Amino acid sequence: MLIAQLTDTHIRPSGTLAYGVVDTAALLERAVAHLQALTPRPEVVLVTGDLTDFDRPEEYARFRALTDALPMPLLPIPGNHDSTAGVAAAFPQIAARAQAGKLNYVVEDFPVRLVMLDSSVAGASHGELGAATLSWLDETLAAAADRPALIALHHPPFLTGIRHMDLQNLRDGDALEAVVARHSHVLAVVCGHVHRTIFTRFAGVPASIGPSPAHAVSLDLDPAAPPTFHLEPPALHLHRFAEGRLLTHVSFIGAYAGPHPFFGPDKTLLG
Ligand SMILES: [Fe+2]
Repeated sequence: MLIAQLTDTHIRPSGTLAYGVVDTAALLERAVAHLQALTPRPEVVLVTGDLTDFDRPEEYARFRALTDALPMPLLPIPGNHDSTAGVAAAFPQIAARAQAGKLNYVVEDFPVRLVMLDSSVAGASHGELGAATLSWLDETLAAAADRPALIALHHPPFLTGIRHMDLQNLRDGDALEAVVARHSHVLAVVCGHVHRTIFTRFAGVPASIGPSPAHAVSLDLDPAAPPTFHLEPPALHLHRFAEGRLLTHVSFIGAYAGPHPFFGPDKTLLG
């Protein structure tokens, strides 16, 4: 099973650039073309928040139009730039499955159960799951303890060392950690929010943050660093589940030189 993770696309209304610089729609278009060209094709795309930049209906409509060509299901959850109501209105079929008063849902159609959590807090940049979502997660994981599960949410439940982002991460990460630690069949926890590839261990399982197909939050570990971004190579994560193991590839979007063969026509390594 191949699971793509697209995150932090920050779509703006037509004719505007994010922060006056980033053409996020053009970058999403490239990400969609990249996903369509992959062989094998991912079976599903997790969209781990910040679909839009300002939670406007026209931004969701543009996101939907730009991703319409994708043949696989898209599983969105809200980020801090979106809202529960905004994502629900844009994806009514997802909203119909929402649990515990937020846009939490579980997808059972694949070898890995996909548990999508809504960590958004209305009007705030930080994230919080809250008691209802955490109980629902606990019950949902307990309901199929024999099946591997992947948990996705926007806000990372751990510190990254990028201070201005750490100040707006998941506030109840300890409570999430306690729930995840109770369920040994959780394969991984995947997040967005920081616009960079980051790996760690959380509740005894691998945890990661996915890169954005648009701008990257600057890798600046100086606690006094101002919040800035760089236009690094756009990318997305491909989570591959095979023979009981989940692993993550970083898939860079764009035209890079290659493929160059290692071997010549006579099957010897090229000198
Ligand atoms: Fe973001």
